[in-house]
Amino acid sequence: MVKRRIVLLGATGSIGESTLRVIAAHRDRLELVGIAAHGKHQRLAGIAREFSVRHVGLFDPAALTAARAGAAFPAGTQFHGGAAGLTELATLPEADIVLVAVVGTTALEPTLAAIAAKKTIALASKEILVMAGKFVMAAAQASGSRLLPVDSEHNAVFQCLEGHRHSEVRRIWLTASGGAFRDLPLAQLAHVTPEAALKHPNWAMGPKVTVDAATMANKGLELIEARWLFGLRPEQCGAVQHSQSKVHALVEFCDGSVLAQLGPPSMTFPIQHALLYPDRAPVATDATLPLDQAFSLDFRPVDETRYPCLRLAREAMAAGGTAPPVYNAANEVAVAAFLGKSVPFLAIPRIIEQTLAAVKLIEPTTLDQVLAVDAEARRIATQFTTQPS
Ligand SMILES: NC(=O)c1ccc[n+]([C@@H]2O[C@H](COP(=O)([O-])OP(=O)(O)OC[C@H]3O[C@@H](n4cnc5c(N)ncnc54)[C@H](OP(=O)(O)O)[C@@H]3O)[C@@H](O)[C@H]2O)c1
Repeated sequence: MVKRRIVLLGATGSIGESTLRVIAAHRDRLELVGIAAHGKHQRLAGIAREFSVRHVGLFDPAALTAARAGAAFPAGTQFHGGAAGLTELATLPEADIVLVAVVGTTALEPTLAAIAAKKTIALASKEILVMAGKFVMAAAQASGSRLLPVDSEHNAVFQCLEGHRHSEVRRIWLTASGGAFRDLPLAQLAHVTPEAALKHPNWAMGPKVTVDAATMANKGLELIEARWLFGLRPEQCGAVQHSQSKVHALVEFCDGSVLAQLGPPSMTFPIQHALLYPDRAPVATDATLPLDQAFSLDFRPVDETRYPCLRLAREAMAAGGTAPPVYNAANEVAVAAFLGKSVPFLAIPRIIEQTLAAVKLIEPTTLDQVLAVDAEARRIATQFTTQPS
């Protein structure tokens, strides 16, 4: 069997570690040829040794220097540094698939380079399509590069759509668990801590996405991501609260039929689906759905009083143009400030709303315009982090 050769951007993160488990379970089909992280060089060295990886990227210059100076990496390791290093990895001639799992939008340019190099993209970093969906999808169409969704909800929609015409879709519904504070009285939200926000009831994920789940900015970003991935109109993308995280998405067709995809809340499933697509194989986890036992699934509309970040994302998606990148940039700044304990939890929607109101929104015609608006939104959002909430 010809092995698929994979570059993993964000190898030391939550998605990265799940991806390594999938690759380890399917060494006859999958081979890791490149890995990158921000600064965790010791963990990268362990991965390089375990999977015999030659190409290693480190964004942080100090970590790169330490990695080069030490003896932890296998002899012959080729190092790639900074943003340029991510792009070198994303375009490695020997790679077939680039799995993008760098938190935030850092991997936008490497992803575009990988698309131009006709790699298959397994996309976990939702922020990339939120920021530049129009340009990323156009680039993929031009090069013929395939985008396979790793985010569990989008992977679920992708599976439900197989064999069906997109023109016959009425609506898609992404499920939302509600995050750490779904049952907390609203009055207590003002005082919640980052530590409490990081305790997700169903999923084990990195810190940024876990806070995004608690505010439901995560679902907002996913609605915008879905709009681009599946070529839908904003009003065709909806969210529904589902506390068990067993149904990942539902697709409602024009004849009233609804298809849903179910699975345990583990990223191993969508990652493996994307890496082996269109094949299926036994999965590298013991998690299963207990279909031989009684269990219930509940669904309810999202209460946007509790989750104003979802309303703001819907409004940004409907406004289009640079509203989604401004939303994303402001959210990244606000979440970092909350995790750094410089703003309270409820400042997150406030900062997003103020930034959306303050930045002049345009319909971008070039990626450079998007990058300029992103930088401006981050600058303005940072100013709003110093205001009292
Ligand atoms: N976790 C999930 O279950 C999940 C589900 C769906 C989608 N996603 C999306 O997947 C992405 C990754 O999420 P995560 O939860 O895996 O995040 P995470 O655990 O925080 O890991 C982030 C990864 O990105 C790397 N990184 C950060 N900045 C970088 C840079 N400038 N250059 C190179 N690498 C950099 C980190 O390296 P260091 O470790 O060295 O800092 C780490 O490997 C996010 O966009 C998230 O929204 C995650």
